[in-house]
Amino acid sequence: MIFFFSSTGNSRLMARRLGACRGERVTDMAESLCKGRTTFSIGDNEHVGFVMPVYGWDIPPVARRFVETLTLENYKEQYTYLIVTCGDDTGRTWCQFGRLLRRKHWHLDFGRAIIMPNTYVCLPGFDTDNDSLAQEKIRQGLAELASAERQLSEEQTGFSMMHPGSHAWFKTYVLGRLFHRLLITDRLFHVTGKCTGCGRCAKTCPLHNISMEKARPRWHHNCTGCLSCYHHCPAHALRMGLFTKGKGRYCLEKFKNLTTQP
Ligand SMILES: Cc1cc2nc3c(=O)[nH]c(=O)nc-3n(C[C@H](O)[C@H](O)[C@H](O)COP(=O)(O)O)c2cc1C
Ligand code: SF4
Ligand code: SF4
Repeated sequence: MIFFFSSTGNSRLMARRLGACRGERVTDMAESLCKGRTTFSIGDNEHVGFVMPVYGWDIPPVARRFVETLTLENYKEQYTYLIVTCGDDTGRTWCQFGRLLRRKHWHLDFGRAIIMPNTYVCLPGFDTDNDSLAQEKIRQGLAELASAERQLSEEQTGFSMMHPGSHAWFKTYVLGRLFHRLLITDRLFHVTGKCTGCGRCAKTCPLHNISMEKARPRWHHNCTGCLSCYHHCPAHALRMGLFTKGKGRYCLEKFKNLTTQP
């Protein structure tokens, strides 16, 4: 059983590929949470996988909420793993996730991070990768996924490939906490005059947090900060705070020629 969350496609690709080669069920955490479906039964020898992006050197709030409400029937310490996708580095994300599982008396056996194109754009100095870097990251990411798949088949344990980066503790426990408290919010979104009222931002919000009113998006304060609304806006009319003007947009869909190959 693989539980995943994804905004722009990177983690969805990893989860689906893993599910296909390992013959495992794949479940979207945001969709399940919205439908109130948080009880799952797992087989005696079934692995439990979690796949998600890194947000502010930690896990996305929606994944935290899902795990907090998750009930795993027949849980008997089955092999459990975390695969995160990130643009650069993960800090102590795996520790945070391990702690979350421990609070439920579950354990985390294995964790690995896979670098993929970056989607964070809201602060100065952060932008999407150019196309050639994005393509390189996707190719490399898929190669890393194949190696992760081998590690999972052998039920390897450990967290040596988490790409913590420099100052990992400081990033997760100081910067990350501030980031989650102040910048994971929909109160900073606004649209410019370029908005066509197409409603794509609302359709692609994984938490159904946006409604269209008078042909403009309205946010309802149940946001996980994923930026799907920003990245999917065809008119580039959606801004977050002061620093997204002129920044890039990313969707894995744009590079599907790379991901449909075996
Ligand atoms: C709100 C937010 C915060 C992010 N924080 C980090 C981070 O701390 N470290 C990092 O390497 N990438 C960070 N990223 C980039 C994503 O983790 C990365 O691009 C990921 O592969 C996106 O996955 P998805 O396409 O499945 O949504 C962040 C992205 C967003 C939207
Ligand atoms: S996707 Fe962009 S153009 Fe379409 S309604 Fe949303 S903000 Fe407006
Ligand atoms: S409102 Fe935008 S950033 Fe917030 S959860 Fe929905 S798509 Fe993600």
